[in-house]
Amino acid sequence: MPDREPTVYILAIESSCDDTAAAVLQNATVLSNVVADQKIHQAFGGVVPELASRAHQQNIVPVVHQALAQAGIDKNQLHAIAFTKGPGLLGSLLVGMSFAKSLSQALKIPLIEVNHMQGHILAHFIDDKNKIKPTFPFLALTVSGGHTQLIRVDDYFNMTVLGQSKDDAVGEAFDKSAKLLGLPYPGGPLIDKYAQTGNPYRFTFTKPKMDGFDYSFSGIKTAILNFIHKEKVKNPDFIEENLADICASIQHTLIEILFDKLVLAVQQTGITKVAVGGGVSANSALRRKLEAYSKDKNWTIYIPDFEYTTDNAAMIGIVGYLKFLKNDFTDESISSTAKYPL
Ligand code: KG4
Ligand code: ZN
Repeated sequence: MPDREPTVYILAIESSCDDTAAAVLQNATVLSNVVADQKIHQAFGGVVPELASRAHQQNIVPVVHQALAQAGIDKNQLHAIAFTKGPGLLGSLLVGMSFAKSLSQALKIPLIEVNHMQGHILAHFIDDKNKIKPTFPFLALTVSGGHTQLIRVDDYFNMTVLGQSKDDAVGEAFDKSAKLLGLPYPGGPLIDKYAQTGNPYRFTFTKPKMDGFDYSFSGIKTAILNFIHKEKVKNPDFIEENLADICASIQHTLIEILFDKLVLAVQQTGITKVAVGGGVSANSALRRKLEAYSKDKNWTIYIPDFEYTTDNAAMIGIVGYLKFLKNDFTDESISSTAKYPL
């Protein structure tokens, strides 16, 4: 990262799923990072795309105002506007993009499109005096409600997807399993919480067989569903009486699936630096396992602060800044895209 660059202020907007987020960065330093999450989806046990885009429309103006106010920056001081082009929910992405386009036109400043997945990875390069930034090459494991990707990162904009989920994301597997147990959305943190006192080896679920570095999580959900049905026929109170053990066993299986491919990737590439991102990186079992590998196998582990690892706009801003330095701007003909490979 260049260290003697002139001051650049970037407003970043992220609206790919159910969080409306805006951030202001001064070069690689975050001045503000505002997120309005959408509680409305809790009642439906998952994100409802139509409701998400409507909520983005309501949230975007206040969220951007708050980001500018918290940063102490007037909009006329901005040098560029970065926004998430994709991947994500099309209706949600369109709200952020339209806002970014009109503001950049009104202010006559450049527009920068950002790939959300690049954001999760480059979030590791946000200035933070308590964190060491990864050095290239490293492996990135991005795990959230929307994505599960294992990526080789050779430079800021030279990334290769080694593997990814062919169906559900790992966060989705946590959330759907939690739903089967009667837990509210998003259930990932609750599985983590109940698992603390449970026995992870009590129940076993067959892990999927996937070639190479790709993942699959939909089969696990079906295995858990069948298991719960079968046990409840024998004992209607099975879930209540065994919640901690069930949660610990599900969590153990999901983390093992993630790790099997990660270990394989480390072995095959010889790269022992692993950067983790996405909401599931908050999971305590995943963190314990990463710590163990860092001690026993000499891996170097990078985990950003929680506010930069779940969906946020600061991670879009850091990509925006790095693209600004390359004069990598986009024009008004740009459009959002639900699928946007790295
Ligand atoms: O990155 P994120 O905030 O949003 C996206 O999905 O992009 O990730 C949310 C996901 C949800 O599936 C949530 O259940 C999961 O991260 N999650 C967790 C934990 N905290 C959040 N999963 C397992 N253990 C946790 N502690
Ligand atoms: Zn994300």
